[in-house]
Amino acid sequence: MAGQPSFADAPILDAVCIPRHLAVIMDGNGRWAKARKLSRTQGHRQGVVAVREIVANAAKLGIQYLTLFSFSSENWSRPASEIADLLGLLKLFIRKDLSTLHKQNVRVLVIGGRANLPSDIVSLLEEAESRTANNSGLTLVIAFNYGARSEMTDMVRRLAKEVQEGRLAPEQINEDMISSTLYSASIPDPDVIIRTSGEKRLSNFLLWQAAYSEFVFVDCNWPDFDEHQLLLALAEYGRRNRRFGGLAEEDRQDSSKIVASGG
Ligand code: IPE
Ligand code: IPE
Ligand code: MG
Repeated sequence: MAGQPSFADAPILDAVCIPRHLAVIMDGNGRWAKARKLSRTQGHRQGVVAVREIVANAAKLGIQYLTLFSFSSENWSRPASEIADLLGLLKLFIRKDLSTLHKQNVRVLVIGGRANLPSDIVSLLEEAESRTANNSGLTLVIAFNYGARSEMTDMVRRLAKEVQEGRLAPEQINEDMISSTLYSASIPDPDVIIRTSGEKRLSNFLLWQAAYSEFVFVDCNWPDFDEHQLLLALAEYGRRNRRFGGLAEEDRQDSSKIVASGG
């Protein structure tokens, strides 16, 4: 349940590290439903309840960016009825929750392909972005119809066009330019990516941006991912030692001692 962390969470809270950008692969709605002899649709509906909860908790914890993987470019291969359910839930979420998100000072951004989406969905996504554009609280990034390979393919096409039209020389292309030509241009790389349901893969999520992300895989299915689960995952993140190819502070001091002593 959302609300103040319970007394039982106090030791976890000490270990928790708040990332600037948390990204979540919300997986396991179908398995959650199956275990309860419910329909997959009911699993997805319960997944939306967990979405509301993580948005409120991320804002409360002071996380600046929360990216939620809600529909992948590969999810179109699911049965038409399930796709219709998922699109319906997205529409319902935006229609019902946009005012609340706006009141919570949440800024909504959407990453993913928009070219072949139904026009009513595109309008809703645009409305969510434009209505909340000036909010200064949590940035909620909805990854919808998102696939990292198609994001990178789009990026290569855009840069190739610039080169073809003589506005860009190939040797001017650098990592920053690539980052700022992706859908996620204005969003910092995720510090930590949580995946629920026990699967340990990225499933085409943020391949470029995840170069130095920490991964936390949790066994519970997405509808069961509550505040306690979030705090446990952030405590796990807090125990990681991020080096970005360099050295941890204590090893850096050790190695300068060795150099200083000529050893
Ligand atoms: C995550 O749950 C929601 C989406 C991928 C849209 P799943 O629907 O993948 O649930 P499982 O993996 O079948 O349990
Ligand atoms: C990843 O989950 C996509 C989302 C959570 C939206 P999937 O359930 O589609 O991933 P796979 O098929 O198990 O890799
Ligand atoms: Mg799944």
